[in-house]
Amino acid sequence: MAKFIPFRDRNYGPLGPQSAELIRRIEGHSARNYEPYPFVVYRAQGPWLFDPDGNKALDFLSAYSAVLSHGHEGVIEAVKREMEHGCDLVSRALFSVRYADFVELVAQLTGYDRVLSKSDGGSATDSAISGLLMHGHERGIENPEVILTKDYFHGRTWIFASNALFDPDQSNRRVPRAPGVVVADDDVEAIEAAINENTVGIFVETHKGEGGPLFSTKDHYMAIRRLATERDIFFGADEIQTGLGRCGYMMAWQEYGDEARPDFVTLGKALGGGIIPVSAVVGTEQFMRIYTPGSDGSTFGGYSLACAAACASLEYIDREGIPKRAKELGDYFVRQLEGIEGVTVDHRGLLIRVELEGVDTAKHSCLEMLLGQGRDPRIFMKHGHYNPKTRRAYTRIAPPPGAMTEALIDQAVERTIAPVLSQARCNI
Ligand SMILES: Cc1ncc(COP(=O)(O)O)c(C=O)c1O
Repeated sequence: MAKFIPFRDRNYGPLGPQSAELIRRIEGHSARNYEPYPFVVYRAQGPWLFDPDGNKALDFLSAYSAVLSHGHEGVIEAVKREMEHGCDLVSRALFSVRYADFVELVAQLTGYDRVLSKSDGGSATDSAISGLLMHGHERGIENPEVILTKDYFHGRTWIFASNALFDPDQSNRRVPRAPGVVVADDDVEAIEAAINENTVGIFVETHKGEGGPLFSTKDHYMAIRRLATERDIFFGADEIQTGLGRCGYMMAWQEYGDEARPDFVTLGKALGGGIIPVSAVVGTEQFMRIYTPGSDGSTFGGYSLACAAACASLEYIDREGIPKRAKELGDYFVRQLEGIEGVTVDHRGLLIRVELEGVDTAKHSCLEMLLGQGRDPRIFMKHGHYNPKTRRAYTRIAPPPGAMTEALIDQAVERTIAPVLSQARCNI
């Protein structure tokens, strides 16, 4: 029998010559701000990613883009229609038809009063912090502060990147720290201790995506929600990764009932159907009234094409029952994973945390699943950070609920995930 070579000692290169050439061209000229796995995406369809050399992989990291199927016909048709017959004016200096549909639909599906439209997640979360700080100034606070919690990820704008604590090595910390933000440990006592006369709000992820996934509990979440109410400060939740059905609810906070409702939420990623960047701050009148003319805005926030993509994706999320489907499939997936030795699993809907004992990174296992010789099906998921407290590494599984089936989950677990993860500890 061939000797087992630990994954960390294997070489994982591109799967074919066309991919290799494309990677060479990208590496020649792209800024080196990402470290992608060497798989080139040429086309995405259903749950699959295709490369130009004829290989395919299941997208188990669609939390970055889609809750619907990749290449969703309904969303693509709506965007095409808008391009052909719609309005290509990129400006909010006038009103537009599609914008009326967008704000009404978002307000209706989320139960909030007003919508501030932006493009990417970082700009929406940045606007949320600006909104909070503007409320502080309105209250006469000279140096207002917003509390974030450790291990957060809200994007890579200066505010967040310079204050990021979940990855101590990250180079963004070389940038001077943006003021107005305080980072507290993610426990109620620490958050309470961080509140002072300058505090205007607390901004959390309902469940942490990039810094985990790390899941909140109802007690923990509600204690922070109540604390904000008692201290008369705003409470906002970033639902850019957890929202729009991924965690089994339209917004993940809904799992905890009506009294859990934040004063505002941020939405992004899947809001644009994985096709067009669309993001938003959505909130109560009391919070949203702070955005007055000129205080916020962006050229592409709320332009017609983005609104058409968002309206279509929201309609299909609703029509296809994505929250319910994510819950059913997530529960099913976790039951299949639980039998794998050395693996601990936690989840909300189709956002699944997989912890591995006995390795200091899940990177080699993730590379093996995507690029290992003869793997079928290949699977794309990304390694997370090592947790020195639990001495476990972890990865995240987040397939598109609209394209997943129980049969695909069975195949993925039996043929790829279980064999790779049960061998992961041979890397020690
Ligand atoms: C919770 C959360 N907020 C904000 C962002 C930033 O979104 P974007 O990358 O579109 O700027 C991300 C991206 O991963 C995220 O996961």
